[in-house]
This record gives sequence, structure tokens and C-alpha cells, in this order.
Amino acid sequence: MKFFIDTANVDDIREAHSMGLIEGVTTNPSLIAKVGGDDLEVLEAICSVVEGPVSAEVIATDAEGMAREGQRLAGIADNIVIKVPLTVDGLKAARALRSEGIGVNVTLCFNAVQALMAAKAGATFVSPFVGRIDDISYRGMDTVREIRTIYDNYGFDTEILVASIRNPLHVLEAALMGADAATVPPAVLFKLVSHPLTDIGLERFLADHKKAKGS
Ligand code: E4P
Repeated sequence: MKFFIDTANVDDIREAHSMGLIEGVTTNPSLIAKVGGDDLEVLEAICSVVEGPVSAEVIATDAEGMAREGQRLAGIADNIVIKVPLTVDGLKAARALRSEGIGVNVTLCFNAVQALMAAKAGATFVSPFVGRIDDISYRGMDTVREIRTIYDNYGFDTEILVASIRNPLHVLEAALMGADAATVPPAVLFKLVSHPLTDIGLERFLADHKKAKGS
């Protein structure tokens, strides 16, 4: 399973990249607004750190506007992938951008039928928002399981990019279900490495070593 980092914070991206933890980045208008500054400059800075797909979301809501904006964003770097919302216009724009060889991440997906439509439109990635589904008392990961089954049934090559991840269990379940990728916020990404028994074990090894060497 590929790991993407879900942030526009270049310091966090650099840190995760230097640890060899990430293969791509996802941003959205809220994440870009959080870091401030010029949107294009932020995206340029991210693309200078990461070689893999960097998702940049359009603001336009009509198909032509989204396609135009997507073409402009795709000019930033070869690894830019355009995020379009899962709407009729979004799917039209996805088809247009894909026909020009531009990668597309269809975002704001909340059920498996929507994901089927994204695959039919030729999306490179589809992003089911598992955390936001959990927030309204449905099981976000059930959606991922259903999408996996549908894509496997028909051999769609759209990649399932699990998004809106809130905790390590989302990542565990995504991996068990065979999701292609997960985009993980920095706080969750760094948590994936840690375990209290690892810390306790390391402390004991070092204490025993110190005792044996009398230092
Ligand atoms: C990433 O592609 C999504 O925009 C992001 O994961 C949404 O996360 P949130 O539901 O925590 O805002």
C-alpha cells in the first residue's frame, strides 16, 4: 500500500520524506489555507520535495472551469494530480483531463456507487473519505471494502486512495482490505511508528548495557 501525506505543510512533508515514509502528497483548499501564502508557490515547494503524485484541488465547480484550472495546476510540475469533486461536472472534467494525460484524483467520495462512476470516468485515484463517513455514524471502511470488490470484479485500474484518515486503525484496515494507497495526516503518520513496548524495550536494553559496562 502506498503512503501519501495529507498536508500542505512543507516541513512535515520534508520530515516524512526524509524518513522514507511517503510516496505522495494530498492537499485540499482547507489544508492550503491553513499554511497560508500563495497557493501555486506552496504547491511548487511541495513538488520540489516529493517525486510521487501531489494532489492539487480545483476551486471551480463547472466542468470547463475545472478542466482549465486543472491544466494550469498541472503546469506546476509533472507529478501534479488534479483533484476534482465527485459531481457530474467533476467527472466531465476528470474525463477531459485524463484524455490529455493529466492524472486525476476524484475526491469527496462517500459511497461505492460514486466510486464506480469515478472509475468509469477514468480517474487515476478515487478518494473515499472514511473519517467523515464515520462522523455521521456509518462505517467508512465498509465503503472501502465495497469499492475494492467492485473494482476487482470489473478490473478497473483506478486506485483506491483512502482519505480522511483519523487514526492508525483506519490505516490497518485499509491495508488489510487491499486499498492501493492511504493519505495520512502527519500526526497519524508519525503515530504509526510508535509502540509503548518498543520504547520500554529500548530503555531496558540501554540500561542493561550501561550496567554491564559499568558506565
Ligand atoms: C484528502 O485527500 C482529503 O481532502 C482529506 O483526507 C480530508 O480529510 P478531513 O476529512 O480530515 O478533512
